[in-house]
Amino acid sequence: MESSEILSLIERAHFFSESLKNKSHIPQVLQNTVVTNLFFEHSTRTKFSFEVAAKRLGAYVLNFHSESSSLAKGETLYDTLRTFEALGTDIAIIRHSDDSYIESLKDKHYFSVINAGAGRFEHPSQSLLDLFTIHQEFKQINNLTILICGDIINSRVARSNINALKKFNCKILLAGPAQLLPSATEIESHCEVVNIDDGLKRADVAMFLRVQHERHDLYELNTNNYNKLYGLNQERLELMPKHAIFMHPGPFNRDVEIEGSLIEHKKSRIFKQKENGVYTRMSILEWIKS
Ligand code: CP
Repeated sequence: MESSEILSLIERAHFFSESLKNKSHIPQVLQNTVVTNLFFEHSTRTKFSFEVAAKRLGAYVLNFHSESSSLAKGETLYDTLRTFEALGTDIAIIRHSDDSYIESLKDKHYFSVINAGAGRFEHPSQSLLDLFTIHQEFKQINNLTILICGDIINSRVARSNINALKKFNCKILLAGPAQLLPSATEIESHCEVVNIDDGLKRADVAMFLRVQHERHDLYELNTNNYNKLYGLNQERLELMPKHAIFMHPGPFNRDVEIEGSLIEHKKSRIFKQKENGVYTRMSILEWIKS
């Protein structure tokens, strides 16, 4: 996707944000449309913000719960998707732990597919809501300096954000435990590995990421000293420029990536990101339907 297309989606997210705040009419572009949430991995934010977004646009929403589904009786994933196709699904919103499963579905079904998180590879709707949040703050995205800190190697959010931010010529600083950073050969030219303190002094935006134990066994998190070494705390907050903000895609571990008392600090955009998830997912659904 080109930067101009990203900006168009951001513009529509802004429109939906304003319309909902002003209680203006929302175009019911998903009337008579069946949207199915198919999450084969846990989710709170993505799943429910897509549900709210789809309902705001007039869709019928089906929510598939893998734990209570017929997958437990041996039905395959393929037959599950064929079933939802037969039930009239127009748009399937899918999250899966396999990096390439969602991509492999392309053009194989009658429904449109939206990627709601693919393994460690991609989380495009999270990236869009992050860029919208940054755009809201700075009125543009070009040439900003963004610090990404934490479990970068396992993070689909980091990967999608790095790909998107480079289209806006942003400088990307990476920090975190050495075992959780990409290898020297994987680091792209617009990225630079830094010490977290240096990164916080330079960044317009600091993004913190959760250590994803479920995806690796390389690194044993010591919750007692992670925050001291790699997290945001009161002392480090003082290093950030006055205009800078911090973000976290969630879910977060209080007092690990970010000291609990800072979660709702005036520099935090964490709950703004969750709210923005609805507006950006409305823009994605409208675009898919068009
Ligand atoms: N940020 C994010 O993807 O959160 P969920 O896993 O709760 O959807």
